Amino acid sequence: MSAIRVRASGPLAGSVPIGGAKNSVLKLLAATLLAPGEHVLRNVPAIVDVECMSELLRTMGCTVERFEPHALRIVRPETITPEAPYELVERMRASIVVLGPLLTREGRARVSLPGGDDFGSRPIDMHLKGLEMLGARFTTAHGYIEAEAAELHGTRVTLEYPSVGATENALMAAVLAKGTTVIDNAAREPEIWDLASFINRMGGRILGAGTSTITVEGVSPDELSGVEHTVVADRIEAATYLTAVAVAGGEIVLEGARADHMDMLIQKLGDMGLRTSPDPAGLWAMAPPRLRAVDVATLPYPGVATDYKPLMVTMLAVADGVGIVTENIFRGRFRYVDELVRMGADIRTDDHHAIVRGVDRLSGAPVRAPDIRAGAALVIAGLRADGETVVHDAEHIDRGYEDLVGRLRALGADVEHA
Ligand code: UD1
Repeated sequence: MSAIRVRASGPLAGSVPIGGAKNSVLKLLAATLLAPGEHVLRNVPAIVDVECMSELLRTMGCTVERFEPHALRIVRPETITPEAPYELVERMRASIVVLGPLLTREGRARVSLPGGDDFGSRPIDMHLKGLEMLGARFTTAHGYIEAEAAELHGTRVTLEYPSVGATENALMAAVLAKGTTVIDNAAREPEIWDLASFINRMGGRILGAGTSTITVEGVSPDELSGVEHTVVADRIEAATYLTAVAVAGGEIVLEGARADHMDMLIQKLGDMGLRTSPDPAGLWAMAPPRLRAVDVATLPYPGVATDYKPLMVTMLAVADGVGIVTENIFRGRFRYVDELVRMGADIRTDDHHAIVRGVDRLSGAPVRAPDIRAGAALVIAGLRADGETVVHDAEHIDRGYEDLVGRLRALGADVEHA
């Protein structure tokens, strides 16, 4: 169990590096299963979830080595064991995306049913349905999915909802399917586009990634080979530092951030009074003396991401006025609100809405991080809380952030590992 101690800080100043996206690199690692050979991924953040996915690849027989602080070399041998054990899948839900590449390359897979972040039920029915349309067959027994597909065939896969994970599984499975697959109502997240770019470099033929209609022309296994790829910038990590400056005040530069992947968020933050501008180094941001409240609803990309929500709620907690936050993706994802309330925030939740009445300052308190993003949001709340805030269960934060404490300190925040 680790903890982070925070004291009131600000204004923040300086530059902060934004690393590769957690939600991309985990899927890119799964995609290496498509092609035997050596793959190199650059701009890989040093976070626990990457270690977890690397461990999963190793249990299948791959070699994964961090040969530079932010680069991984993955050697995927010809023969692997297409199995994802409970111990690893349980630690990280994203591991379910090995299903698509394993099925299409190995013709079979055995994957534990996932656990993951503790915010409501996260079913995988759409993942399975998409793969079934391509010709896969599933049985479940003893907590495992047993999947089989002598051969996958290209077809039209219409997703009931633009699920990120279901899109990724269908996309990867289609890469080696016979014929053409069209994925309709596909998720449009930048991480999907990054995954398609990586696979296209390997020799895949994917068109339209980043739009709602993705077309995949199946290729034969010997057309794919290991390649080098740089992971797209993490828009959620960038949003985290934007929140830090918005809450604590000041002016910072987010090095390597992709403003074009955060349009809707930047628009919302602009409405709240935060000034931003694309910068040659990434993105510049300056806080107003006091944020203004706005309403916000989470939606699939390009809408405001569900991952931004704890950050938005934290900003609204210290903004001038009342904001209504609506969660449309994961209904149970308001657990951190009780922790913010313990810090003096005025928030009422009702089903999938939160009504946030801004207060000028919060009050430092011991709190508990329920998941990655909420954990980071609580640390940031501490920047505008009188006295001391200690965020317990901070190991959740290390799953998705490289050195959050060090990077905030470099911007002038009074924060340390407790
Ligand atoms: C989601 C987010 C993603 C975020 C990630 C990590 C969306 C659309 N997706 O991706 O931006 O980075 O969490 O926090 O915001 N669903 C089903 N059946 C399925 C799959 C999904 O009912 O088989 C539902 C989920 O319960 C949820 C919605 O569809 O309500 C979106 O799920 P999905 O996009 O798949 O989630 P992640 O891939 O985890």
